[in-house]
Amino acid sequence: MSRAPSDAALRRSLLDWYAVEARDLPWRRTRDPYAILVSEVMLQQTRVETVIPYYERFLREFPTLDLLAASSVGEVLKAWEGLGYYQRAHRLHQAAREVVARHGGELPSGLPLLRALPGLGPYTAAAVASIAFGADEPVLDGNVVRVLSRLFRIPGDPARAATRRDLAQRARSLVGRHPAGEVNQALMDLGARVCRPRRPRCDECPLAGPCRVRRAGEADRFPERRAAPAVPHRDVVAGILWERGREPFSPEARLLIAQRAAGDMLGGLWEFPGGTVEPGESREAALARELREELGVAVAVEALFQTLEHAYTHFRMTLHVYSCRHAGGAPRPLDCADFAWVLPADLADYALSTADRRVADQLLKRTSPPATPKPKDKNRPHRP
Ligand code: ADE
Repeated sequence: MSRAPSDAALRRSLLDWYAVEARDLPWRRTRDPYAILVSEVMLQQTRVETVIPYYERFLREFPTLDLLAASSVGEVLKAWEGLGYYQRAHRLHQAAREVVARHGGELPSGLPLLRALPGLGPYTAAAVASIAFGADEPVLDGNVVRVLSRLFRIPGDPARAATRRDLAQRARSLVGRHPAGEVNQALMDLGARVCRPRRPRCDECPLAGPCRVRRAGEADRFPERRAAPAVPHRDVVAGILWERGREPFSPEARLLIAQRAAGDMLGGLWEFPGGTVEPGESREAALARELREELGVAVAVEALFQTLEHAYTHFRMTLHVYSCRHAGGAPRPLDCADFAWVLPADLADYALSTADRRVADQLLKRTSPPATPKPKDKNRPHRP
């Protein structure tokens, strides 16, 4: 049996492949550590193709760390709208402020100081240290874990600490004392393009020869993840609460929106107020209760306006949105950060979650005055 190739030989094959096949990604065209930090925070839990337009827009709006630190969290959330996992935006903003306050506006280069910043866990700190500063720090993201589990046939669920330790050791010795940025990104690209979760393209792989699971024909069985538990479902209600004295759905009628509390899921985002339907409760009763508890208002729940499905990481929801009339009580932020009466057209200025943005888009269609009619075609037959 042939001897296993050395880490140096594996690294060489990998980097030769990467020199030709590297994806052309916007954060690879810069050496600015701040831009690389933004990319790595956005890439947590989010696919490359989704991140690219957000990354480009974010850097146009906040081109330097100083400008990000000087912006309001509302402006940052607005730029993040639709990307999800909004705690990342809060923490990136806090990290920028800390870097200004403690490090004179320069992102620190060492792993311990990076790790101390808000939102930089072991993965992101190692990615920034290696890619932006050339440190010899390996990273383990989903793609890298898959490549290493297969290449070295590492058994066990990568979510387990013992498996994770094996993977980390393999990654560290593969990187060696080299600037790890290239090795890390080569492994990411190999995982994304070749060593895919299903039907890996082993015939295109620079590491196919030494790959232990390929030889055994069991690539599909690695990594050995436990099946994810079923995601629970919730019925959620939300209200479009119209101000009194105006015709609901007219462009001049204002409606009430609420800002979610900072520490909550989707914290800092604005929403059509509401909440989860309790077991045994009707949707209408749940909505009236939520608006009373959250904002201190009494409402008459009227017509169902829209129903939509949305999946978060930990649950799926069916969102039922009702048009409501204001029956009494001046709103107060009892269980939310803030509230505002806004015209439908002004919803564009507020950062909303993806589900609420879909409701706002639908509402805008319904409330916009019809486009000015085209001049009549004299030859067309008149329809009553
Ligand atoms: N995922 C996380 N970081 C990445 C990077 N630098 N390039 C490609 N995919 C990534």
